[in-house]
Amino acid sequence: MELIPLATGFGVEVRGVNLIDVASSDAAYQAVRAAFEEHSVLLFRDQRISDDVQVAYSRAFGPLELSKVGSIGHGSFYGVLRNVDADGRIVPDDHKEALRARANQLWHTDSSFKRSPALASVLSARTIPDRGGETQFTSTRLAWERLPPATRAKLKDLVVWHSYANSRDQISPKLMSPAEREALPPVDWRMTWRNPVNGRTALYIASHASAIDGMGDNEAKALLGGLIEDATREEYTYLHVWRPGDVVMWDNRATMHRGRPWPGDQVRHMVRTTISATDADGVPHVLPMAA
Ligand code: OGA
Ligand code: MN
Repeated sequence: MELIPLATGFGVEVRGVNLIDVASSDAAYQAVRAAFEEHSVLLFRDQRISDDVQVAYSRAFGPLELSKVGSIGHGSFYGVLRNVDADGRIVPDDHKEALRARANQLWHTDSSFKRSPALASVLSARTIPDRGGETQFTSTRLAWERLPPATRAKLKDLVVWHSYANSRDQISPKLMSPAEREALPPVDWRMTWRNPVNGRTALYIASHASAIDGMGDNEAKALLGGLIEDATREEYTYLHVWRPGDVVMWDNRATMHRGRPWPGDQVRHMVRTTISATDADGVPHVLPMAA
């Protein structure tokens, strides 16, 4: 296995190991898992992608999420991002899938609004536009390490509320149905997530982050907004330009990402599988877990 850096301090292209190897060999899994813990974003090029291979690969890392109420393929392992309807027509700008793509263009980490947060996401390109439609990443571990020690001390144990409605409502109040709101009440996490393998801490923030315990709304929004802005300055990011056959996996404990726009008359189709974090992954519960 060979690792080629993609950006400064995080992100690598993995060469010499394919998704299918990880699904079938423990040695390959262990090597890729170690790279994932260390580098946070992994790129595999030229994969023979199918839903089955993507699921088999993802399952090696832990239990898979089922896709949400109200999404394409609800209740399956697949998160489908696709701007065409069942007849193959590109959806209009106010269609739910178009609005969803816009909400994905806010900086976020996946599933921080769920009762079980996500360890990792695996995204494969199925149809990509001629231009645009990139995915941009930043390391919230490096963002944390850049903060002055006094700031880190103040932030370390803050309790942050995450809610899916907070990010969706920034795009359109129509994006979430009452049933979805009901299914996804806000959840609270500590603002920092410590990686149990290497002990490195990352900021755990996202467009879903809506409030902070013991802090007024305006102050909390300003603090969260400022941290996201610092973490996502262009020079700290990696912009992934998709090619056919690409698969990218990221650590939701230690990164944020966002989608980028693409021309409205072009098809983009991506498939995501998402691995749930377990307590072994250092989930930043607010209350100590029962013994
Ligand atoms: C995702 C996501 C952005 C993109 O799949 O979780 O945010 O570029 N995707 O499709
Ligand atoms: Mn996402």
